[in-house]
Amino acid sequence: MTQRAQERLSIGRLLSQHGKTAIITGGAMGIGKGIADRFAEAEANVVIVDLNQEEAQKAVDAVVKAGGKAVAAGCDVSDESTVKATVKKAITAFGRVDVLVNNAGIYPFAPALQMLVAEWDRIQAVNLRGLFLFSREFANQVIRQGGGGVIVNIGSIDSLHPSAVGLAAYDASKGGVLMFTKNFALEVAPYGIRVNMIAPEGIVTEGVQKGLTGLTPEQMKAMKEQFLARVPLGRWGMPDDIATVALFLASPAASYMTGSYMVVDGGRLLT
Ligand SMILES: NC(=O)c1ccc[n+]([C@@H]2O[C@H](COP(=O)([O-])OP(=O)(O)OC[C@H]3O[C@@H](n4cnc5c(N)ncnc54)[C@H](O)[C@@H]3O)[C@@H](O)[C@H]2O)c1
Repeated sequence: MTQRAQERLSIGRLLSQHGKTAIITGGAMGIGKGIADRFAEAEANVVIVDLNQEEAQKAVDAVVKAGGKAVAAGCDVSDESTVKATVKKAITAFGRVDVLVNNAGIYPFAPALQMLVAEWDRIQAVNLRGLFLFSREFANQVIRQGGGGVIVNIGSIDSLHPSAVGLAAYDASKGGVLMFTKNFALEVAPYGIRVNMIAPEGIVTEGVQKGLTGLTPEQMKAMKEQFLARVPLGRWGMPDDIATVALFLASPAASYMTGSYMVVDGGRLLT
């Protein structure tokens, strides 16, 4: 046994992120914003990383207004030098990093039969290369700090099973997220770093709403009815449905979990 058993913490302390620094990619909107809000509530210092710097700053302002601590970092997760600079920015702001939530992702509907190489490359670059870059920079920093630390990757039910036609490139990237999660978990376990994945589906976010623009009201109604008919819990998910699970995975409540995943989809994968 190389690791000591986890100290038995009180229920109150189990979910606390007090004094920890959490980097949330794609944290300006949608699921990422929901996660950033919960980590701030759990008293983490939050680094909200996003391509959309203006929205990231708004998300930070909301956290600070609610009494939390946060900084914004404009960053394209697929760009190596900006990712390195962002982890340095987190250290400058808060002195250490403890949690990384790799959430930034894109999911354009684009049939592979017509797909341009540039579209394919962009999906892999954001969803997979970005996740690798942040994981590498974060884990090396945590190792320099003496070990510990947690990575939560946001995959998809598409990491496990296709959800719709037209997402072959997306599914390839999210399948990659699952296998990266497992193998990286093996690689960094000796440093006490845990790596797990959440597989969401059906979460109402800005990105999902954007994907529905262009549909007529009738098409929208039919699409929503069709979708809900396949969700056993009978409702859409909200960003907070993922945020609370991310908080659990990042907490000592999940201290014996690594290389694993949790499906958070209202039961959709069962149907
Ligand atoms: N919404 C769902 O139902 C659902 C289902 C399965 C998986 N997911 C996954 O959850 C994650 C978040 O999805 P969402 O629905 O909240 O999306 P969203 O589009 O609402 O928000 C994504 C955020 O990521 C940011 N972002 C996009 N590209 C980026 C880049 N290159 N660098 C930095 N930031 C970038 C965007 O600016 C935005 O703020 C994605 O990885 C997605 O694949 C979502």
